[in-house]
Amino acid sequence: VSETQTATKLNSADSALRARAQRVIPGGLWGHQNAAHLPDGYPQYFTRAEGCHLIDVDGRQFVDFMCSWGPVILGHRHPAVEQAVREQTSRGDCMNGPAPVLVELAELIVDMVPHADWCIFGKNGTDATTTCITVARAETGRRKVLTATGAYHGAVPWCSPSVAGVTAEDRAHLLHYTFNDIASLEAAVEQAGHDLAAIVVSAFRHDMGKAQELPTPEFARRMRALCDETGAALVLDDVRAGFRLDLGGSWEPLGVRPDLSAWSKAIANGHALAAVTGRERFRQAATTVFTTGSFWCGSVPMAAAVATLTELRRIDGPAHMARMGQRLRDGLAERALHHGLRIDQSGPVQMPTVLFVDDPEWKRGFAFCAEALRHGAYLHPKHNMFLSCAHTEADVDAALEAADAGFRHVAR
Ligand SMILES: Cc1ncc(COP(=O)(O)O)c(C=O)c1O
Repeated sequence: VSETQTATKLNSADSALRARAQRVIPGGLWGHQNAAHLPDGYPQYFTRAEGCHLIDVDGRQFVDFMCSWGPVILGHRHPAVEQAVREQTSRGDCMNGPAPVLVELAELIVDMVPHADWCIFGKNGTDATTTCITVARAETGRRKVLTATGAYHGAVPWCSPSVAGVTAEDRAHLLHYTFNDIASLEAAVEQAGHDLAAIVVSAFRHDMGKAQELPTPEFARRMRALCDETGAALVLDDVRAGFRLDLGGSWEPLGVRPDLSAWSKAIANGHALAAVTGRERFRQAATTVFTTGSFWCGSVPMAAAVATLTELRRIDGPAHMARMGQRLRDGLAERALHHGLRIDQSGPVQMPTVLFVDDPEWKRGFAFCAEALRHGAYLHPKHNMFLSCAHTEADVDAALEAADAGFRHVAR
């Protein structure tokens, strides 16, 4: 990875695939993984991934700091997970009901997550956040839901960041507060009045393009108290952060427990699975709502999840990612300083955001990342990144060398 790699431009396998895709896929690719949003030279297509390394269709290799935007937590193609996948595949995946592994997984999660008395499964994070709200409304018989301004909770009309194709009615019962701002939270609760069903909160503030912000203990405690006073559900959206910070849930270190939590991304190391966990009070509502999908009882991702969570527990995954993330943060700080550049590193070290100071349009961030990519590190200029348990000190150090080239380029 230390070798300079030539950016994919004309005549590359990547650009040929992109040209073909433009004809048959609207915009070339839907959603967040569209490389058109990334600096020049970023590949769209990959042929292989192993541990914390990615290989693109032109044969370039990178140390990966996006981890599929979160799902890959043990490393790409982790042997124990893939073995569990092969074994379950050989027995059956999509049947007329789940395999016994469903019960094993539910028991494991109820054991790991202190607030969880039960859990149900889906496929994507959006399934989980949407189910949390449906369950909260069914239990309380109320309609209003509070979310933080700018927070991402999924890609359906009630929460999509785009207004294209969304009606005002889709969001009729949504009210907003500002993350970490108790006064705004209290005002929104008051506005909802007796109709407050749920307050939804992310593990921390991780809005794209902005510095991340951890919740203050006062804010988290006030949110819990407001839910207790009003009878509304506290819904923790742990889709992005879940299992990277604390295996019991991201607010465990704060001592504040939600009523319902939404999980997905890292739960099965890249296999499609989401979960909702909840307290006893919400069990009946979770029984009555109609939440399902053709693939929601698929057993292979459940087997992958049992293997993933068991391994994370065995190796204390969050502690490893914290050590590697701290090494990355310290190394980036030292190198930026050396080149006379001011950067702002925010969020938990396992999920870092790196921005340049006074770079409102991320121009320096783009130049930095494009150069680091050429030297073998796949970083993101404005979204939080993800460490995995496969990152070693040598991988982080290789990425720091690549970052050094990026800083040198920006300094010039
Ligand atoms: C905090 C949060 N909630 C919900 C979602 C939606 O998850 P999914 O994309 O799996 O539907 C995401 C996805 O990035 C997320 O980061």
